[in-house]
Amino acid sequence: MALEFHPLHSGFGTEVRGLDLSGPVSEAEWEAVLRAFHTKGVVVLRGQRLDEAGHVAVSRRFGPLQIHVLTQFLTTSFPEIYVLSNASRDGHPIGNHKEGLNWHSDWSYRAEPAVGSLLYGRVCPPEGADTLFACMHLAYEALSPEMQARIEPLHAVHSYATYYGRAFADRTKLTPEQQAATPDVVHPLVRLHPGNGRRALYVGREVVKEILGLPPEESAALLEELNSHAVRPEFIYRHRWQEGDLVAWDNRNTMHQATPYDDAKYIRIMHRTTLAGERPVPAVMLPDAA
Ligand SMILES: [Fe+2]
Repeated sequence: MALEFHPLHSGFGTEVRGLDLSGPVSEAEWEAVLRAFHTKGVVVLRGQRLDEAGHVAVSRRFGPLQIHVLTQFLTTSFPEIYVLSNASRDGHPIGNHKEGLNWHSDWSYRAEPAVGSLLYGRVCPPEGADTLFACMHLAYEALSPEMQARIEPLHAVHSYATYYGRAFADRTKLTPEQQAATPDVVHPLVRLHPGNGRRALYVGREVVKEILGLPPEESAALLEELNSHAVRPEFIYRHRWQEGDLVAWDNRNTMHQATPYDDAKYIRIMHRTTLAGERPVPAVMLPDAA
């Protein structure tokens, strides 16, 4: 069966049909999937039957993988797999629960944020727990020329400690090792996607602490404005999970957000692999380009 590509949204994202990742995949098919990943921002493959080894092997086709800092939520067989879940085994949670309820791109708090992530649905509630994706090319391109010019030279501080403190105030504090592994980092507010040359807005809720060089009130107001703009409904694709869905997303031009579900009624088990990072390319406006 030939591969089919169906848009998820008029401006980004594609669903690939006609591919069983548990069977043989030709080089031409891989090329087509990877091309879609680098141009569309979000790639959905439904109805997959992947064990942990298969998930890791497929993920490696997209790029080298990196291991999550919260090592207590990695699977025992494959440390590349980070578990999102409300389930427990022997009294211990098997995965991180209520992760990603803020709009973010993965690991923006690192100097080299994850290029992408691949999330596989193992046990999915019949309602709730959707993932929202917002396209940061569309968000940037919809800003006024004045705002584009204003933010292009600016940089912001992304902080895991700030995010963790805000999102998980009820949890045990980060260990000294986890803190040492996640110092604050500075990234441009506008980044260039190396695969397509388009500019993307680069923000995030909770995780972006401040914009450098601005008074605190102005920094907070601008961040609020940009974070609100970035997730306007017209930039969003909502993914409703089914078991066997594999969703690969590009953190360089999208943000995403988890949505809640009834965790007293339903079990959810999701496995994520994370593509190793690269330093964001700033979109600095040259003096003679103004
Ligand atoms: Fe995430």
